[in-house]
Amino acid sequence: MSFSLPAAAAARETPFYLYDLALLEQTLTAVQQAARPRGFQVHYALKANANAPILELIQQHGLGADCVSGAEVQRALDTGFAPDHIVFAGVGKSDAEIKRALAADIWCFNAESAQELEVLNELAGAQGRKARVALRINPNVDAHTHHYITTGLEANKFGISLQDLGAVVDQLGALPHLELVGLHAHIGSQITDLGVFAELSRKLNELQTWLEGRGHHLPHLNVGGGLGIDYHAPDANPIPDFEAYFQVFEQHLVRRPGQRIHVELGRAIVAQSGALVSRVLYVKRSQQTNFAILDAGMTELIRPALYDSYHLIQNLSSQGSKQLYDVVGPICESSDTFGREVALPETKRGDLVVIRSTGAYGEVMASNYNLREKAEAVYVGQ
Ligand code: LLP
Repeated sequence: MSFSLPAAAAARETPFYLYDLALLEQTLTAVQQAARPRGFQVHYALKANANAPILELIQQHGLGADCVSGAEVQRALDTGFAPDHIVFAGVGKSDAEIKRALAADIWCFNAESAQELEVLNELAGAQGRKARVALRINPNVDAHTHHYITTGLEANKFGISLQDLGAVVDQLGALPHLELVGLHAHIGSQITDLGVFAELSRKLNELQTWLEGRGHHLPHLNVGGGLGIDYHAPDANPIPDFEAYFQVFEQHLVRRPGQRIHVELGRAIVAQSGALVSRVLYVKRSQQTNFAILDAGMTELIRPALYDSYHLIQNLSSQGSKQLYDVVGPICESSDTFGREVALPETKRGDLVVIRSTGAYGEVMASNYNLREKAEAVYVGQ
């Protein structure tokens, strides 16, 4: 399979985000085929991409919603996700966001600190409710990924540290409007070394046994998200190896009878279904390098500038002999660079250039820096 741009899309004004809903559908079928027989419930992390046609398809395939803001909770409800398939995570939930989610009676709050539990208890009591909570623990497991997207180390702001867990669990006894339903951990994103999930499972097993010793039996475990995708070969590997991913948890997690296990995947569901389509505005040859200057920039896709991350870049218009280009955007920042020394066929003004695997953390992280207008989303494969 290789990338092709439908004629109707090729004629459009660039830049735009292109989404292949047929591939998204295949990905959703694959994830459910791997998860369901093993009794795992997949929640989709809206933060990766919250466009309506994408969310609708995800909801129709029976996934739940993992939200990190009041607006995401609202978007999930508006899309038709059942409240008991919605969880609300986040290290800094505001009172207004918590009140809204309580009123909607979502399944669970993933709480990240002692103080947050106190606030949740108070706000739930004020509504005459009992809030279900899972404690987000910081398991101190290294996800072996980029340090900006590592979340489960003690140095990170996320979760309750293992040292504090005992005190937090004791504190729950004095918080009558909370019901402890589970544990939650998320150790990072774009994880390709599946061994780290085995380590996470072992940590969760230990903690569960310890909690049971204190009389807490958990109906629910949430092992987070983080499964990575192949940014280098999106055509060879358009769908992540969900079988291998779930097998790791199946093998290493010691499950209690009837326990509900959630995973919350974002990138693995949507990344490969998206591409950023742009045109070459100018080619500039300097002493040191050739620049291909695109009409898309870090305003449409900030990942290379922010994390130095790799995205496959392809020139769809040229068959010429390959040359090296620094592929850059029009924004007034040197970091507005999609790739350095990228081998592309001879590139000229007007060529269509596509940046692949942008379905996750692309459009959602767009900005209007330099007063740029928001790029449109185009859907194919419906
Ligand atoms: N659950 C929690 C609590 C999370 O913080 C995240 C992502 C996910 C689930 C979904 O993780 P995923 O399956 O997508 O890896 N902007 C960065 C990624 C930030 C991820 C933040 N948390 C990037 O472009 O690489």
